[in-house]
Amino acid sequence: MALSAHRISNANIYLDGADFFGKAEEIDLGSVKAVMSDFQGLGMIGLIELPDGFDKIEGKINPVLTASEGQVVQLTLINGEGAEHDIVFPDQDTKSPRVTGKGASTTIAFRATKSGDFTYFCSVPGHRLAGMEGQFIVTPRPSPQTVVEADISREPGDLPPPIGKRDPQTVRVDLLSVEVEGRLAEGTTFGYWTFNGKVPGPFIRVRVGDTVDIHLKNSADSAMIHSVDFHAATGPGGGAAALQVDPGGEKSMTWKALVPGLFVYHCATPMVAEHIANGMYGLILVEPEGGLPHVDHEFYVMQGEIYSDIVFGQHGSAEFSVDKLLNERPEYFVFNGSVGALTKLHPLEAKVGDTVRIFFGVGGPNYTSSFHVIGEIFDKVYNLGGMTTPPIEGIQTLSVPPGGAVITEFKLDVPGNYTLVDHALARMERGLLGVLHVEGSKNPEIYNGEVMPGMGH
Ligand code: CU
Ligand code: CU
Repeated sequence: MALSAHRISNANIYLDGADFFGKAEEIDLGSVKAVMSDFQGLGMIGLIELPDGFDKIEGKINPVLTASEGQVVQLTLINGEGAEHDIVFPDQDTKSPRVTGKGASTTIAFRATKSGDFTYFCSVPGHRLAGMEGQFIVTPRPSPQTVVEADISREPGDLPPPIGKRDPQTVRVDLLSVEVEGRLAEGTTFGYWTFNGKVPGPFIRVRVGDTVDIHLKNSADSAMIHSVDFHAATGPGGGAAALQVDPGGEKSMTWKALVPGLFVYHCATPMVAEHIANGMYGLILVEPEGGLPHVDHEFYVMQGEIYSDIVFGQHGSAEFSVDKLLNERPEYFVFNGSVGALTKLHPLEAKVGDTVRIFFGVGGPNYTSSFHVIGEIFDKVYNLGGMTTPPIEGIQTLSVPPGGAVITEFKLDVPGNYTLVDHALARMERGLLGVLHVEGSKNPEIYNGEVMPGMGH
């Protein structure tokens, strides 16, 4: 593949009199995205970062050009006068053809393989001495070791025990909004906004008829106002109308849980989609009178999208991209906040013969999940999280909208690895994957075959 055929970064250097002038040129991120997989294969991920210098060179004489180590730089030299010129990057072994005549141009592309402070100049005799010389700075690639990788992913087993039989009461719930840099994937961090430092926020459990006494604190070091909207609450904003909290502040209110079911809660401070996308969502279960039937394991899983400024797989410290959010073009899809949260970091564990219940919700903010567990059939499904109607039975895949949830139950008959997916399976290639690991003896009557290594099921 000819690397120079792709516009990774692009600058125009034009000539006026005997000086170089710089001009930024638009960078087509769309086309870059389209060739990403090829670049990954070549180990050239990280090229997509825009060179900071390029937007600052407009109209400058002998502009300072910058690039990141490993980046491909594409540059067009345009002759604005009659004389003959070229441009040479001696330390990068790059020299353009000579351009002669007004309006003539040439385009060169090269890879900035090593970091350092370099020069460029015109090699026509006398021109460099006359001033046709500039600086080319290549900044080092950040080493993966410098990345602090706080695990912001909530463990799927991190939820309170069932309530079961008791009378309605007032339940105090404390939430703390925290903005924290955390691990998004191997070698990549993201600036998350969270409830209680994890994604999703804490699993809240009450029973129908309870009064929730919610106290929302916003960390003093937050940059943003935060709030919380409970889909289980009845009244303005699901509470968010009364719970907009400044950094360092605290607000409280009470609301009554009138309807049993599994509900999403989320921050509802404008831009709401941004607060959700950055990690501010969780589930609250309002148990019916008497609670749910006993199961051996309960798990808490939520799906969300990450709109990072850097592309999927690129290492470094990612920031939120409002453009990608508004265009609904996430770079990542994640279970419990990060890539690998439910595979490498915290897989779900159970044994043959166990019954499991998954509380599954979608924070989103934009994409509906087609939730599926490869190799299993959901015995019981409380569709859309509702519990005032009987569960449906024998279901393969569940459609769960953003701001929606579902409760599934199934019994494990065969050992192996069961993969949690959104059956819109392209999202698996963007990080959306979980594993339920089941130990126990084989059950050839139900499944009789040699499981290939690594296939799990
Ligand atoms: Cu918020
Ligand atoms: Cu909502």
